Amino acid sequence: MKQLSITLLSAAILPLAIVQAQTCSAKYGQCGGVGWTGPTCCPAGWTCQQQGNNIYYSQCLPGTGSSSSSSSQTSTTTRSSSSTTSSSASTTLTSTTSTSTSPTSTPSSGTGNDRNPYLGAQFYATPYYASEITTSINSFKAAGDSADAAKAAQVQSVGTAIWIDVAAKIPNITTYLDDALALQKSTGQIQAVTFVVYDLPDRDCAAAASNGEFTVANDGLTHYKAYIDGFHAAFAAHPDNRIICIIEPDSLGNLVTNLNVPKCSAAANTYKAGIAYAIQQLQFPNVALYLDAAHAGWLGWPANLQPAATLFSQVLQSAAPATIRGFSTNVANYNAFHAATPDPITQGSSTPDEESYIAALTPHLQALNVPANFVTDTGRNGVQGIRQAWGDWCNVKGAGFGVRPTTNTGVANVDAFLWVKPGGESDGTSNSSAARYDFHCGQSDAAQPAPEAGTWFDAYFQALVKNANPSL
Ligand code: BGC
Repeated sequence: MKQLSITLLSAAILPLAIVQAQTCSAKYGQCGGVGWTGPTCCPAGWTCQQQGNNIYYSQCLPGTGSSSSSSSQTSTTTRSSSSTTSSSASTTLTSTTSTSTSPTSTPSSGTGNDRNPYLGAQFYATPYYASEITTSINSFKAAGDSADAAKAAQVQSVGTAIWIDVAAKIPNITTYLDDALALQKSTGQIQAVTFVVYDLPDRDCAAAASNGEFTVANDGLTHYKAYIDGFHAAFAAHPDNRIICIIEPDSLGNLVTNLNVPKCSAAANTYKAGIAYAIQQLQFPNVALYLDAAHAGWLGWPANLQPAATLFSQVLQSAAPATIRGFSTNVANYNAFHAATPDPITQGSSTPDEESYIAALTPHLQALNVPANFVTDTGRNGVQGIRQAWGDWCNVKGAGFGVRPTTNTGVANVDAFLWVKPGGESDGTSNSSAARYDFHCGQSDAAQPAPEAGTWFDAYFQALVKNANPSL
C-alpha cells in the first residue's frame, strides 16, 4: 500500500459521515468558483485551489498548494466498500475466487486479451469519483433534496474508468492498483480496474476542449513513450490485479475522417506510432486492451467502416505480435446501445445505435483477422432525443446516467457496458475566452456555464442523477 490509508465504510454511511462531521468542504470537494455558494474552507492540511485557469471550479487538495491543475488527481483516504458487480459471474475465475481470500487475477495461461476481462469481477469504483460526488450530495442536501442525495450516493459505488490524461497522473496507477488489490484481499472479489490511456501528442486534433500536454513539434512521441513506460512499470509490479486499458479515445477516428484538419494530418504518424507502442508495452497476462473505435455517428457510416477497419489492422500489424482484446465505442458520447426508436438526429444512418455500429464493423474486422470484441460506454446515454445534431458531444443538456456497468450485454461479442466517462466530469468549458474553448460547448444544447474538461460539473451531475435511465 502506498500513500493510502483505507477506511472501509458502507456506501450508505460514507457520505453521511463526511457531511455531518464538517463545516468546510470535503477533501477533494468543491470550495469555490463562479456561482459556488457552498463552503470555501478545507479540512486541516488541505487548501482550496483553483483548477488551472478554470474560474468555475476550486477544489480542496492536499497540502498548502502553491499551484494546482486538473492533473492533480490523487486517491482519497476513504472509500466505499461496495462496487458494482458483474452480472455474469459464473466463470472459472469466479469459482476460484469464491474459495480463496486472496484472489489472483492472473489467468493460468494465455494473455489478458484472450478472455472477457470483466467476467467474474467487480467493476472497480474509484475513491476519487466518490469524492467528487460528495460535492453534489452536499448540494442536493443543501437544497433539501434528500431523495436525490441518496441516489447520488448510490453512484459512488458504480465502477468508472480512470483517465490518465496527463503524465503527472502516472503515480496514481499504482495507488489505484494497490487499493483494488487490498479490496480483492479483503472481499475475495476480483476488481476489474479500467484505465483510459489518453495523452497522445496533439490530442483531440479536430476539437479544442481536450487538447493535451504534448505536441508533435516538441518531441511529443518521446514524451508519450515515457508516459506509456509508466503504465508498463506499474502493471509489471501488479500481476495480481485485473487490468483493462481503453486506448486513446477518438484518436484513430480522427485519422479516418479528419485528415483534412492540418493538426490531424500532421499528427497521424505520431498517433499510429504511439498507439502501436502502447499496445506493445502493455502486453501482460492480466491486462486486456481495447482500442477506441469512436461511435456509430462517426465511423458507422458505410464509407467509413472499411477505412476504419483497415487503419485498425495497420496499427495492429505494426505492433504485432502484440495484440488487443478489441475495441471501445461511444466513449464519453451519448448514443444509445440499442435504440428502440432511432433518435431523429440519426436519420439516414443504417447504424443509429452502438449495437448496429458494432454489428456493421465486426465483419470488416474479422475479414482482416482483427479481434472483434467490444465494450461500450453507457455512462450518459440514458436519455435520447436531446441533441440537435449527431456531432454534438459537449455536456449535452438533458442527459441521464445509462445502464450500469455489466457483462450482461445481450450481444456475444460485446464484453461489457462500461461507464468510461465519469458522469459529472465536464466535457469542456463553455467559457469562450478559455484556451480550450470549443464551440460545441457553447451551443444551445450544451449545459452552461461549464467548467474545463475533466473537472467537476456539479449541476450536470445533478441532472444525470435525476434523468438516470434506468433510474437510480
Ligand atoms: C478530458 C479529460 C478527463 C476525461 C474524463 C476528457 O474529456 O479531456 O481531462 O480526464 O474527460 O472526465
